[in-house]
Amino acid sequence: MNRVNSLSSWKRTHYAGSLRRENIGEKVTLCGWIQRLRDLGQLLFLDLRDREGIVQVVFSQESPELLNRAKQLRPESVIGVRGTVRSRGEKAVNPQLPTGEIEVAAEELIVFSEARVLPFQLNEPVSASEELRFRYRYLDLRRPSMQRNLRLRHEAALQTRLYLHRQGFLEIETPFLTKSTPEGARDYLVPSRIHKGRFYALPQSPQLFKQTLMIAGFDRYFQIVRCFRDEDLRADRQPEFTQIDIEMSFADEEDIFSLVEGLMVELFALIGEKISIPFVRLNYEECLEKYGTDKPDLRNKVTITDFSSLLERASSPLLKTAREENPVLKGIVIPQGAGLSRSQLEKSQQKARTKGVRNLIWIKAEGEIKSSPRLERDDNLALWEKSGASSEDLLLLCLGRREAVLEVLGELRIELASVADSWPPFTFAWIREFPLFEWSEEEKKIVSVHHPFTSPHPEDLDLLEKEPLKVRARAYDLVLNGYEIGGGSVRIHDRDLQHRIFKILNLNEQEIEEKFGFFLEALSYGTPPHAGIALGFDRLVMLLAGENSIREVIPFPKTTSALCLLTGSPSPVSPAQLEELGIDIRKEEKKK
Ligand code: AMO
Repeated sequence: MNRVNSLSSWKRTHYAGSLRRENIGEKVTLCGWIQRLRDLGQLLFLDLRDREGIVQVVFSQESPELLNRAKQLRPESVIGVRGTVRSRGEKAVNPQLPTGEIEVAAEELIVFSEARVLPFQLNEPVSASEELRFRYRYLDLRRPSMQRNLRLRHEAALQTRLYLHRQGFLEIETPFLTKSTPEGARDYLVPSRIHKGRFYALPQSPQLFKQTLMIAGFDRYFQIVRCFRDEDLRADRQPEFTQIDIEMSFADEEDIFSLVEGLMVELFALIGEKISIPFVRLNYEECLEKYGTDKPDLRNKVTITDFSSLLERASSPLLKTAREENPVLKGIVIPQGAGLSRSQLEKSQQKARTKGVRNLIWIKAEGEIKSSPRLERDDNLALWEKSGASSEDLLLLCLGRREAVLEVLGELRIELASVADSWPPFTFAWIREFPLFEWSEEEKKIVSVHHPFTSPHPEDLDLLEKEPLKVRARAYDLVLNGYEIGGGSVRIHDRDLQHRIFKILNLNEQEIEEKFGFFLEALSYGTPPHAGIALGFDRLVMLLAGENSIREVIPFPKTTSALCLLTGSPSPVSPAQLEELGIDIRKEEKKK
């Protein structure tokens, strides 16, 4: 076969996928991958693919030598074809293909590189396992959907830069080899060779640097930046992920909200969606009470109702005996839920139990009002009336501890009520006034809900030491269709208040100095009030692309056990490297 190492005489004139009617009669040189071959004996059709799409190339008896060479080609080999663009003729037009009106009559052929038989089919939707796809990611990325996703990612990054530039933001880089930046996950550590026994941490976010840039007077900063967090992985989490990181001086919540709303309008315009702004704003407590979660999917119109006031006069033994435990009684109406099967209801019952809610009660009004477990008629009636349900609906009630009841109803709301044809397809919300602190069962101490640089609500300053768990934060999340796509806060810009927060978080003076001494010092040389946010860029692109996992919009993702199957990382290193770093691996770790 005819192979070349030099492209000198084979410069591409067009992308295969960009040829149209207007090119008819032109002599073109195309380079790309063989998507498909159809050998009809006297005639051979070859679909040639490049970044822009596919075009049909025809080899015929007019040039038997060329036809013979084409017959030896294999899918996914990389070739060059020279030929003339011609009309396909009415019957052969393929309306599914943007190049479907034309084809290229081949006149010359060159093979740049032959492909072996592929380990899996590059079909759409993909049928190969994720393991195979990641192991051979360069093949998987050839599929049109992956090409489309990564192009969309590029466009979203570009649009973000243009928008923020227009708003007066400067893109400034911050270090990757740094000190721990607490965002609630474990750090990835990098050992120092020069300073043995000391480690850099990869940033969980550029939080401290962006605040330092405000102290330095840059006023408006952004960065599309990689962050690193060693935490349990899920479909919307990766150990390294990308943020659109933003910080703004002399700004408050509303400044950040309107800046980000404008950005969302531009990003969703990329997929032809018109987003209406301003977004709904919900306080954290109100949000939990209504949706049972701090990241509600507002395409789903079902909200949680509180029925606790009916407990007082309830006559059913189940409700009466529960009263002693001071429970809450809350419920949701599932539209058209009367038809839900017994097994679906049993599954819900099971879920409630595993989450610590013993009593899940459903009420239907098929003819008469019925409940399970059975309640007295009066209770059934009172509950049904208050719920506003109609006869095709189902009323689901949970009786128990507030947190557990809200969690269960929050999940059942999503599982049992469909959002399939809801409108608009993208519903955003700002959730604000999160608590400043929460109790960590794992660490057995209070920790910051957002991060320790978040400003407490000015009305709650007196509660800081007395009742820290009651203090509200000037923190906010941006939620889209049930995903947290961003989080930020108004920051503390007063050195003493920042120091006070570290004390409440149980850090002693030495720890404060070691971890944040440089930052406290920086705060004491003139700090503007400032606020910021970081948007999860991977999650945003995932939603723009209509995918269910961020792995579909990341070129080289890790598996859920944090492995890169393509390169085989993480991998052992040589004893010499370890020696140089002053690191000794324990015997039992080596065996793992
Ligand atoms: P936060 O920790 O809320 O805030 O992160 C901001 C957003 O980043 C995304 N995100 C992730 N995406 C993929 N994989 C992960 N492991 C992951 N972790 C977070 C989420 C999240 O909303 N420094 C603050 C921001 C600030 O205060 O300005 C911060 O990082 O979409």
